[in-house]
Amino acid sequence: MLEQLAEPLLSWYDEHARILPWREEPTAYRVWVSEIMLQQTRVEAVKPYYDRFLEAFPTVEALAAAPEERVLKLWEGLGYYSRARNLQRAAQVVVERYQGQVPASFEALRSLPGVGDYTTGAIASIAFQLPVPAVDGNVLRVISRVLCRYDNILDAKVKRRTEEELRQALPQRVGDFNQSLMELGALVCLPGGAPRCLGCPLHPVCRAAAQGVAQELPVKAK
Ligand code: ADE
Repeated sequence: MLEQLAEPLLSWYDEHARILPWREEPTAYRVWVSEIMLQQTRVEAVKPYYDRFLEAFPTVEALAAAPEERVLKLWEGLGYYSRARNLQRAAQVVVERYQGQVPASFEALRSLPGVGDYTTGAIASIAFQLPVPAVDGNVLRVISRVLCRYDNILDAKVKRRTEEELRQALPQRVGDFNQSLMELGALVCLPGGAPRCLGCPLHPVCRAAAQGVAQELPVKAK
């Protein structure tokens, strides 16, 4: 069923995707920095930090060589400072082990400090067009609703199953597809019982919308 998502999602994305600094020129370094900043942080809050950070550290080498306090100063206000420290450590690994080229391999990306399954999938698909899913909480919410599943999305098994199901449903434009799921979760398939189903490109195929229960999903049980 998930193989039915790509066509309507990509058409919608082509028309409605926000213009964001890391989408203009999606090099691996730029995508990577954006995905680290976007962890636990809203797009609108990230934008000014992102621009300042990329101006200060335009390359992996510049970030790797910077004094740590300068990196932390540019992160000030974003919170979760271990993200900044890990990002710099990972930049140093990329310089030392990969000659400053962000590696175009799932395993090599996944081994970098601060880069988990979601972030690996995002960098691999958006920057390198590798056919891998990128499943975060937004994507789990969208998929729970489309499939009308009451599984607990905080359960690691549910996340792994969703990744496997999406893997079978990836189109050619895998980076745009992954971003379209995130974008739908941010703009339309909103959390907190407030989905905007009327404007949703997936409404015709959404099982939760058909049953009128989209606002009950997803289930998050600690
Ligand atoms: N949240 C995390 N990564 C994102 C991306 N690439 N686009 C939109 N929202 C995001």
